[in-house]
Amino acid sequence: MICEKYVFNWQGAVLLKNILLIFSNILLYTFFMNLSRLPKKDTIIYIANNFMEKQPILFSGIKPTGRPHIGNYLGALKNWVELQHTHNCIYSIVDYHALTIEIKPVELTANILALAKTLLAIGIDPKKSTLFIQSHVPEHTELAWIFNCMTPVAEMERMTQYKDKAKQHKKNINMGLFDYPALMAADILLYRAEAVPVGEDQLQHLELTRIIAKKFNNRYEKYFEEPQAIITKAKRIMSLTDPAKKMSKELGESSYISLLDSPEQIRKKIMKTVTETSTSKTGNMSPGVLNLIELLNHFDNQKASQEYANQYNKGVIKYAELKTAVADTLITYLKPIAEKYNDISDIEVKNILRDGAVEAKDIAQKNLKEIKNIIGLI
Ligand code: AMP
Ligand code: TRP
Repeated sequence: MICEKYVFNWQGAVLLKNILLIFSNILLYTFFMNLSRLPKKDTIIYIANNFMEKQPILFSGIKPTGRPHIGNYLGALKNWVELQHTHNCIYSIVDYHALTIEIKPVELTANILALAKTLLAIGIDPKKSTLFIQSHVPEHTELAWIFNCMTPVAEMERMTQYKDKAKQHKKNINMGLFDYPALMAADILLYRAEAVPVGEDQLQHLELTRIIAKKFNNRYEKYFEEPQAIITKAKRIMSLTDPAKKMSKELGESSYISLLDSPEQIRKKIMKTVTETSTSKTGNMSPGVLNLIELLNHFDNQKASQEYANQYNKGVIKYAELKTAVADTLITYLKPIAEKYNDISDIEVKNILRDGAVEAKDIAQKNLKEIKNIIGLI
């Protein structure tokens, strides 16, 4: 009897061992099969994602409407680079959004490539992040239509960017301009992103994205995260020619410093900056001076920033010296970016964008299929 029990247990142990062996072999097989199928992402990242806690998904986009300036960089793009260490980042050149304003085809094509190269030059690393062109993943516009059918017109009418742009482009108030936030919500929610680094002016659009996510979750089932904005310290970099207004491509060449401006252009524009304005008489630091002192701070020259702020408070500041310090700081900071930009070929950047679209599509197709399923489309 004792002997029979012993034989039974022994057989059971062998059976268990064999089951475990088969199971672990299946796991290993799937792991290495996936590894060999990976498009391009680092093997290390894949292994890390499998064995460590997953990083939160982050999405952001930028329009290819011209050369990015230091306002874009400090308000959004610098953050994009840093967030690559802590998030699973998906970055898009949102070309469909650029169509809401009239733009020549050759200009649009050139802007897209120049913007992609600039993003790589500032430190967006395609091994860590997904970088792609919005129109290469048609699921964005498909989801935007679904969101159109859930978004009250009244919510869209509240959008200040729409109101501002409608005033600026009176002859071209098109449906795309009005519907812009639905496509932006689709960009973000298509990847079920939790975090969105943007400048302050985009907070209203992000709030609408959360409203759409909530509406969908309540009407159907909880599917979307309600994404949170990540804002930088440099909320509003002001125009060099009119420091009461936000730095923007639309205020003319001399009002902004492009990330690719030559040292001569940078010096010329900074030396012409408006410093004293009527508001300087009120006792507060004039917005032009404040902008320059803040630029020193944001471009890693905190010592000079503090020094000129002290000089201003004591009434001994010399604006020509402040401007020279800002120009020198900017020229030193931007030089490696321009060098890296010039090293990237068109073919190289096109390959990166093509691979990025494959990675983005992988997620977009899976998620859109689930979304369609939830709302009853077959
Ligand atoms: P845009 O050039 O309008 O497509 O903006 C791209 C990103 O840069 C957005 O997240 C904006 O909020 C941000 N941005 C644009 N201009 C400024 C500025 N002057 N100061 C800070 N952030 C800005
Ligand atoms: N609307 C943004 C801007 O003007 C660009 C954008 C489009 C965007 N889709 C996005 C930003 C999704 C963040 C996430 O700057």
